[in-house]
Amino acid sequence: MKIAILGYGTVGRGVDQIIAERVDGVEVTRILELPDRLSDPRMTASYDEILADEEVELVVECMGGVEPARTYIMAALESGRHVVTSNKAVVAAHFADFAAASVASGAGLFVEAAVGGGVPWIASVEKVRRIDDVSSFSGIMNGTTNYIVDAMRRQGADFAEVLAEAQRLGYAERDPSADIDGIDVLNKTIISASVAFGVACERDLPASGIRNLTKADLDLFAARGRTVKLLGRGVSEGGRYAAAVEPVAVAADSLEANVPGNFNLITAVGATVGELKFYGQGAGSLPTGNAIVQDVLDCVSGTRRPVYDFTSQLAYDPTLLRADYV
Ligand code: HSE
Repeated sequence: MKIAILGYGTVGRGVDQIIAERVDGVEVTRILELPDRLSDPRMTASYDEILADEEVELVVECMGGVEPARTYIMAALESGRHVVTSNKAVVAAHFADFAAASVASGAGLFVEAAVGGGVPWIASVEKVRRIDDVSSFSGIMNGTTNYIVDAMRRQGADFAEVLAEAQRLGYAERDPSADIDGIDVLNKTIISASVAFGVACERDLPASGIRNLTKADLDLFAARGRTVKLLGRGVSEGGRYAAAVEPVAVAADSLEANVPGNFNLITAVGATVGELKFYGQGAGSLPTGNAIVQDVLDCVSGTRRPVYDFTSQLAYDPTLLRADYV
């Protein structure tokens, strides 16, 4: 299968590298890049040129941001091309539109890499749903904030101090607000709830980050045998569902409490399978590239072609989920 990559940043390069070194039967023939960065004969700055290439059957979108990613994804799906994306912002904002376009054209819509980096979370939730309703999920979905909270606890340091160190080491963005204010986890929670509960999840969910967390808070919880983690959570029962992002005080001896910086740990609960936990690197060129290539291979082999019809009749009821912060 010939494929195009949109965006040649950290993730796009990882996808290209993994396919070149480890995958037979898939060829990256087109790469969309900025006009001043066309350093490879496969690169073009024109998306129309890629759409006009009838040999390209699948588009990998890893540009980030909402526009022009939304327009490009819709155009690919409407033209019958499969789409694989790692872009949580655009999927969280437009999942229902993408799903409808995918159902209409029969093209696959693959979003594994948008949540949990290399952790096989989305495909596993789809698999759980073949038998069970997912009654809840909960997880550490952001490595930057996990690193910061972990370092605050270990070093006895305050938030601003650790954030500055994380930025110096390149773990946190220069503008870290999407991570520390919970926006990144909010997007991942919206996508997870949509897949887990089969609904186009409400986007205006309660969401708070870790900006106001202090060393004194952590000490207070530690004295009570608890550790604070930023969690994305969802629950569904009795025809209703809720989801939220919030710092939660977990037991100090739980698996969640001991997840080190940059790792993710996400739990799903189903009626017959019980509790399942998924752990691994939640970001990075090769882990996230791996998740994308797994989706590409599922598509090429036809073993998995997700169709999100979002037909569950669940009502959004925020009172289902209450904060465990104190
Ligand atoms: N900023 C995100 C994180 C990157 O820190 O986990 C992966 O989505």
